[in-house]
Amino acid sequence: MCGITAYCGNDFALPFLMQGLSKLEYRGYDSAGVTTLESGQLLTVKCKGRLKNLEDELTKYEIKGNIGIGHTRWATHGIPSNLNSHPHTNEDQTISLVHNGIIENYRELKEELIKKGYQFQSETDSEVVVQLLDLYDAGNIFEATKKVLKKIEGSYALCIVSTKEPDKIVVAKKDSPLIIGKVNNAYVAASDIPALLEYTKDVYFLNDLEMAIMEKEKISFFTHDGQSIEKKLVTIPYDLEAAQKDGYDTFMLKEIYEQPHVINETLRGRINHQEIVLDELKEIDFSKFNKIYFVACGTAYHACLCGAQVLEKAIKIPVTTTPASEFRYSDPLIDEYTLAIFVSQSGETADTLAALRLAKQKSATTIAIANVLGSTISRDAQYVLYTCAGPEIAVASTKAYTTQLVLLFLFAYYVAQQLGKEVDHALIQQLSHIPEYVHNILKDHQVFENYAKMLENLHDAYFIGRRLDYASVLEGALKLKEVSYVHADAYVAGELKHGPIALIEAGSVVIAVATQPHIAAKTISNIQETIARGAKVILFTTHGEKVKNVENTYYLPDVAPTLQSILVAIPLQLIAYYTAGIKGCDVDKPRNLAKSVTVE
Ligand code: AGP
Ligand code: GLU
Repeated sequence: MCGITAYCGNDFALPFLMQGLSKLEYRGYDSAGVTTLESGQLLTVKCKGRLKNLEDELTKYEIKGNIGIGHTRWATHGIPSNLNSHPHTNEDQTISLVHNGIIENYRELKEELIKKGYQFQSETDSEVVVQLLDLYDAGNIFEATKKVLKKIEGSYALCIVSTKEPDKIVVAKKDSPLIIGKVNNAYVAASDIPALLEYTKDVYFLNDLEMAIMEKEKISFFTHDGQSIEKKLVTIPYDLEAAQKDGYDTFMLKEIYEQPHVINETLRGRINHQEIVLDELKEIDFSKFNKIYFVACGTAYHACLCGAQVLEKAIKIPVTTTPASEFRYSDPLIDEYTLAIFVSQSGETADTLAALRLAKQKSATTIAIANVLGSTISRDAQYVLYTCAGPEIAVASTKAYTTQLVLLFLFAYYVAQQLGKEVDHALIQQLSHIPEYVHNILKDHQVFENYAKMLENLHDAYFIGRRLDYASVLEGALKLKEVSYVHADAYVAGELKHGPIALIEAGSVVIAVATQPHIAAKTISNIQETIARGAKVILFTTHGEKVKNVENTYYLPDVAPTLQSILVAIPLQLIAYYTAGIKGCDVDKPRNLAKSVTVE
């Protein structure tokens, strides 16, 4: 999710830049850099790795500029490296910028600029912005920026400095965060409040499609087309630690509420009217595969269970989903006609990595779906798709899961599209609106908190579902287990009568998901079997399902059945979260668990 800092004032800029970047480390990053402006010269120092590497590099210079910009990069385009780090400058070193976000149309802009003779230093999308500024720069960097903003598509928070106007910083915002702070002898900017709090609590919140010119004693605000606007100064009421969680009590809750935004980032640039665009995979001839494997662990495995069902239905080729710890020892049937997809948030999970290397050894074509750019699994696979969910700090995967589902469904329909199979365009259109549906479900959080209270004095909980709903309840049970330590098991609903129903007694809580129209009624019958034995049921279903004597039914919005697996994840995450809260558990760092299981 990257971090930006900027300083324009009467003191040296570097101290603010660096303290701000360190306060933004929680946002996750893989490289860092700064530009300061002194005596009409830009000095840019940037390097891959932790902030410490940048600090060590900076000791080689005596930096006194009182204008500067800083950046911690969460790579989305171009692996973590010194050259791909921000800030990016134009060739004659008169302009420098930092960017948070994704420039969706950077490929065509880059081609246009190369045709005009521009040479690029990095593989990033961001560098096209500074080269465009160079192209449009006629001595007024604000005017040049306005022109560039009309050319670029995507998300951005930009801070720009120019040697031709060494007393100002131009900033612009669309979809990525940028906040401006008023200090008694300076103006400062940052991606998030924690970076400002040591200097000020008085801030201006930039809205989308707004710009500003920061000067030492003055700030001016504009719309993207240059109309001057007034903005209200706001005083921040909370402290640093609360600010890093964006005001939420925990990272897990913050990441649950980030899902509408990060799902948007996952979708960004990948649905173009009726077409799915996954250029990262355009060299693959999918027609040659006669066997497809999905391989992952934990939550990622549950996402694969959904993705595999959707893919198999879309292309009518057998698709297998296997936990990585099983796959690697199963002597899997693999040859050059096999496609293997490895899903991993961290991109470092040992079992998944070992399974990937086994598949490559046996000549499979390998694709990684990862969240951390440049992670081992993303680099070892022949192809990679990124979920762009930003860093997930809480051990329990939430936004990683829903963005994996989104990307897996895009992948499934992309393959169908490449094979000339029928693609459900109505579903794809609904997929592009999923963030709004998720946002509306989050508003019902009180309902889910009340459901959690039903688990308050229980040590066991039972989840049931069929087909895609079974994957959803596996994930719901895992969430509850790992953050609240309630013994939660998920069962294929049709399997209850083959044994597990022996566990149901008066007061048992059964959480059922029945969102798939062709089998919902069957699951609802299974629910009745548990009620007959004294269970209390929480049912997630869709309108139109007739549900007798179930006291807790939550009706999900009316979307395509496949997309219900994304929506139902939200209440199940919140039930787990609230149950953990009632039981006094540390949701961000549950006992016995690690965020990335890098050992077998
Ligand atoms: C899920 O909440 C857990 N954190 C865990 O199951 C996790 O999904 C699993 O370890 C896989 O991690 P990965 O996605 O980073 O490979
Ligand atoms: N997309 C840009 C890059 O990959 C910016 C990433 C970020 O927001 O840190 O460099």
